[in-house]
Amino acid sequence: MCGIVGYVGNEQALPVLIQGMRQLEYRGYDSAGVTVGDKGELHRVRRAGQLGNLEAALSDDGLNGTIGIGHTRWATHGAPTDANAHPHLDSNRKVAVVHNGIIENFDVLKKRLISEGMEFHSETDTEVIAQLIGSIITSKGCSLLEATFEAIGQLEGAFGLVVIHADAPDTIVAVRQDSPIIVGATSDAGLVASGIPALLAYTRDVVPLENRQIAEIKPGSVRVMDFEGNDVASEVVHVEWDLDAAEKSGYEDFMLKEIFEQPEAVRNTMRGRIDAQHHITLDEVTWSRDDLLGINKIVVVACGTSFHSGMAAKHAIEHYTRIPVELDLASEFRYRGPVLDDQSLVIAIAQSGETADTLAAVRFAKEMGAKVVAITNVVGSSITRDADAVLFTHAGPEIGVAATKTFLAQLVALNLFALYLAQELGMMDAAKLRETIDAMRALPDQIEEVLALQGEVQRAAKRYADARDFIFIGRGVGMAVALEGALKLKEISYIHAEGYAAGELKHGAIALIEEDVPVVAILRGTTLYEKMLGNVQEVRARGAQTILIAPQGDERARLLANELFEMPVTKPLLTPILDTIPLQMLAYFVAKERGLSPDKPRNLAKSVTVE
Ligand code: G6P
Repeated sequence: MCGIVGYVGNEQALPVLIQGMRQLEYRGYDSAGVTVGDKGELHRVRRAGQLGNLEAALSDDGLNGTIGIGHTRWATHGAPTDANAHPHLDSNRKVAVVHNGIIENFDVLKKRLISEGMEFHSETDTEVIAQLIGSIITSKGCSLLEATFEAIGQLEGAFGLVVIHADAPDTIVAVRQDSPIIVGATSDAGLVASGIPALLAYTRDVVPLENRQIAEIKPGSVRVMDFEGNDVASEVVHVEWDLDAAEKSGYEDFMLKEIFEQPEAVRNTMRGRIDAQHHITLDEVTWSRDDLLGINKIVVVACGTSFHSGMAAKHAIEHYTRIPVELDLASEFRYRGPVLDDQSLVIAIAQSGETADTLAAVRFAKEMGAKVVAITNVVGSSITRDADAVLFTHAGPEIGVAATKTFLAQLVALNLFALYLAQELGMMDAAKLRETIDAMRALPDQIEEVLALQGEVQRAAKRYADARDFIFIGRGVGMAVALEGALKLKEISYIHAEGYAAGELKHGAIALIEEDVPVVAILRGTTLYEKMLGNVQEVRARGAQTILIAPQGDERARLLANELFEMPVTKPLLTPILDTIPLQMLAYFVAKERGLSPDKPRNLAKSVTVE
């Protein structure tokens, strides 16, 4: 999510850091900072906002020194302010850390370090790492490398780390756990970054750390170890990509890259929220059990793709909690005179956190006395200021205009929230809760399985790329998948696509079915499998080409399918988290077949700040 750059060598570090940070800035960061080491001291400058703000600050305050680290932040813990920007220092200002990822147990560690006398200056999880390494060095008198080894033994979560110490002017320590770290291999300098683009100006030979590896980087030398301290042989990879391809990690488009980032996005959204006892903790939701017991109605409001995750959430919340849920398009909500009071809970969903209609809905709901929880991907966005509670999706920055990984992350956050409500209200027996949580935990690996269908989806896309109309049908949460599939396709391929409740087909849309019209049917997410098959028969009888999303091994579906995408087994309410993926890929590959640019569809914006 965040961008990391580190340099040690004979040159001034600062220009190298800024150059590297500029190459990582395409992902849209909210703050940036650098720390440079010189003569036993660390000098740090940080600024909220674009990299330009940091550069302006540095023009008055040039930092000298031949070792340094830099960071462009995409906030997860704490708003995008100067104080929360990285690098973070320990209390003695000897250790500086930049971090990409989420430390799940930072709260526990922070409390312990405070009780030991440490003073904290930010709301971030990262500052804990700097303080922890600093305290180990002070108490044991050990090296930066030894202290980092000891510290990571205490950290839970995902972390790409780069650490320097004021008294070790020729050493950078870098750590990779579930968050990329790439070391540059040059003969006279030491370079490290979270992404290849930041290194390309200096070298095309890189050592990507494997998961759970540590590197000790000195000018002209790299030593790689596993977390147990054993030296491991590292492989130097020669990068052929140009900068544009490197920004997309070799994918042709951001949208495809983001589709493939979905296992990680889903993992990050669950991270730290479910413990070993299958208990869900949502730190950001601080209402008491009595507050929650007082809720007699829930209203979900959102726009676009977020509305579709809301549609799936309605099913999950009603199923688990038996609290009635209304679903509204944010642009309609306040104009219909909705009945709301202090016993209502409004769930406002917006990946950007800036959609004007959704923000207006939040303000309206608050004026009516309702409680408001926002589900968003952007820390510090407007919706986080207006809502009473916020649940972040932690999908990482999304550049493609068509929402993909933020949608899956929303579905996960909303399912977690629904289960959390059921848990707090005592509406779900422990065994069922456990089973559902286990099914959620299996999702990232199952998403990988679905992504492996890429070749099949691409072949199907070739076949249907010239279609004039597409119809998508589903029932239950499968209807939300159908609507999202249709939206993705029309957004980026400009083919007319209708998402429909399968049972409604015969009341209108069936008139559109003629020879060879592709119909995508979602056979899961509903108890009405037989009825779905019936709908498929109806459209086949009228000449449609059927593209079926079905459970693995579904022989009946096979007989009715022109194209069959077989999905791993999960709980019915979780099926949208898997079943949407082939439809995202279908839209992507159809757009490519038609020679269109999926990342920047015409007339659309990533964030719609007008009503
Ligand atoms: C725009 C984007 C869509 C998004 C919608 C709602 O139209 O192009 O991808 O679903 O806004 O955005 P939000 O930030 O509120 O989720």
